[in-house]
Amino acid sequence: MIASSHTPVSSHLTITHLDHTPASEITPAGEDVMAGLSQPQKTLPPRYFYDERGSQLFEQICSTPEYYPTRTEASILRKYAHDLAQRTGSCELVELGSGSSTKTRYILSAYDQLDAPFYYVPIDVSQEILVASAEQLLQDYPRLQVQGLVGTYEQAIAHLPESPVGARLVIFLGSTLGNFSAADCDRFFVELDNALNPGDYVLLGVDLQKPKEILEAAYNDAAGVTAAFNLNMLAHLNWRFGGDFDLNQFTHRALYNEAAGQMEMYLDSQRSQTVHLRDLDFTVNIAAGESLHTEISRKFNLDHLQADLQRHHLTPRQVWTDDQNWFGLVLCQR
Ligand code: TRP
Repeated sequence: MIASSHTPVSSHLTITHLDHTPASEITPAGEDVMAGLSQPQKTLPPRYFYDERGSQLFEQICSTPEYYPTRTEASILRKYAHDLAQRTGSCELVELGSGSSTKTRYILSAYDQLDAPFYYVPIDVSQEILVASAEQLLQDYPRLQVQGLVGTYEQAIAHLPESPVGARLVIFLGSTLGNFSAADCDRFFVELDNALNPGDYVLLGVDLQKPKEILEAAYNDAAGVTAAFNLNMLAHLNWRFGGDFDLNQFTHRALYNEAAGQMEMYLDSQRSQTVHLRDLDFTVNIAAGESLHTEISRKFNLDHLQADLQRHHLTPRQVWTDDQNWFGLVLCQR
């Protein structure tokens, strides 16, 4: 594994930094912002959602009454984690984008009961979040061995440690898969296919297609948390690149594109304006009514997704959903 450090934090917790920079990330900071703002449909890269305030706002979105995905996925895990552990048997649990690891606890509790060695590999770009949530977990699961990886999904998938207990289970929750374009999703499945050993498992949490009203409400909560989250990207760009976006001159818009099966998030310019990003030596004119596209969230059809997985040698073994069929957990095996 390519790593800058391999630090034992305690006898049960190791943190490894993945340094290896994939070709897609060699672009210097800000190039992606300028490229996005230079397209006919102006676009901002979603990774700028997540500064410290953005991460806090996202946590708040998850508990708004309208944003059903988080609690629906948690309810499915609560109900079926035991079934999952029975099916896979003892596994090393690898989580892409682990964050606070809240939902993971259902799965950890189920594996804990198997009474076998017990390994968790959380992967996140934030070392602070990794260490803090691992320390919490170790208090509640004293038998657990945690090996945190600091890095991106691509880095982590390319450098997964060999499982000490046989198979691995890689989990990717929260419908983050839906934030990938169809092409990126395809690349992701190819990378998984290449990285996993035959017999390894993958569990995907995916938001499903449903009536427009329910979806649009989930991304337009009445308290305005999602609007604040979307607008915070401009504040992030302001501090990171010396920008002068005026947050009062943009409004949040989220709509369901039924033909494409995806939610689309925009920031609409309220007037004709010129924005400077001083540190990038970049200026952009934005017309009144012109939109900046910030994110997509694709909504899945379970049959299509399973066929797609199968094509990438990830054979679907089990699908769990909630009573309303709003959210799905798909277990597949390499
Ligand atoms: N993975 C989440 C989703 O697609 C991220 C998200 C929730 C999000 N609300 C958002 C992204 C609002 C951008 C804007 O559901």
